[in-house]
Amino acid sequence: DWTMRAFREEAVEKIRAQVGQGRVICGLSGGVDSSVAAILIHEAIGDQLTCVFVDHGMLRKDEGKTVVDMFRHHYNIPLVHVDASKQFLSELEGVTDPEAKRKTIGRLFIDVFEAEAKKIGGADFLAQGTLYPDVIESVSFTGGPSVTIKSHHNVGGLPDRMNMKLVEPLRELFKDEVRLLGRELGLPEIFVGRHPFPGPGLAIRCPGEITNEKLDILREADAIYIDQIRKAGLYDDIWQAFAVLLPVKTVGVMGDSRTYDYVVGLRAVTSTDGMTADFYSFDMRFLGATATRIINEVKGVNRVVYDVTSKPPGTIEWE
Ligand code: XMP
Repeated sequence: DWTMRAFREEAVEKIRAQVGQGRVICGLSGGVDSSVAAILIHEAIGDQLTCVFVDHGMLRKDEGKTVVDMFRHHYNIPLVHVDASKQFLSELEGVTDPEAKRKTIGRLFIDVFEAEAKKIGGADFLAQGTLYPDVIESVSFTGGPSVTIKSHHNVGGLPDRMNMKLVEPLRELFKDEVRLLGRELGLPEIFVGRHPFPGPGLAIRCPGEITNEKLDILREADAIYIDQIRKAGLYDDIWQAFAVLLPVKTVGVMGDSRTYDYVVGLRAVTSTDGMTADFYSFDMRFLGATATRIINEVKGVNRVVYDVTSKPPGTIEWE
C-alpha cells in the first residue's frame, strides 16, 4: 500500500526530527496500536528506544507471553517486562467507580514508566500508540457538548513533574489505517487482526470491585468465548468481542444442587473506528453452545447473557 509506505517514511523522519539524540520509552499494551507505534519508532531510532510491557494483573489469558515472544523473538526489539500486578491490584482495592479505576491505573502506569526510565539513566520521551478516535473521545463527544465520556488512560498528557515529552506517531490515524501500517511493517497477520484491547484491561470489564478471583473467572470465560468465535470463523467479521464479569450472583441448578454464582456478559460489536458500533447478531445456537461451555468449564459462573446494545447509546466497554 503506497499510502502507508509514504506515511511510514514520513513518520520515521518526523520521529527522528522530534527525538534527536534523546531516549524514548514506549509502553506496550499488547494491542495493535502500541505495537505498531513501537515498531515504527524502533525503525526510526533503533536502540534509543526502550519498550516496557507492564503486566498490571488485568491482562487476558496468555497476553504477556504473546507480546514478549513477538517483540523479543520476531522483531528482536529489547523489551522490559515489568510485573506490577501486586501494586496495581492493591491500589485498586475498594475502587468501584469507573473513572476512579481509569485514573488510578493511568497514574500507576506513569509511576512504572518513571521508575523504568530512571533505571536506564533517564528518558526524554514517552511514546504511546494514541489514535485519532482516542484523542477525540477524551475531549468531547461527537455532535454534543464538550463532556468527557471516558478518560482514556493513554491520553491527557503527563504530570508536570515529569520531564518527558510525548511521542505519538499514530495520532492522526484510524484503526483500519493502523492495521495497514502494521502490515506494511511486517507485523504477523494474527497480530494485525487482533481485536482492540483497552489499556486499563480487564479492570473495565469487571464492573464493581476488582479481585483476583473475579479476574481469573473473567480470563477463563473470555478465552473460551474468543476460542468459540475463532472456531466458528467469525473473528475477522467482528470489531471486538469480549466477556464481562457482572458483580452479581444469581441462583442456578447443576445436577441435583443449587448454585449461587456469577453472571458473565458477552459483548460483540461491528464498527469501523470504535466511535459508533452495532451489536453483532450471532446465531442463537452459537450463543447457546458458548454459554454451555463457559458454565461447564469455568467454576464460579452459572449464567451467561448477551449484550444487544449498540453504540450509542451504549459504549463498547462497560466502563
Ligand atoms: P468505548 O468503550 O469508549 O471504547 O466505546 C471505544 C474503543 O476504545 C477502546 N478503549 C480504550 N483503549 N485505552 C485504550 O487504549 C482506554 O482507556 C480505552 N477505553 C476504551 C475500547 O476497547 C474500544 O475499542
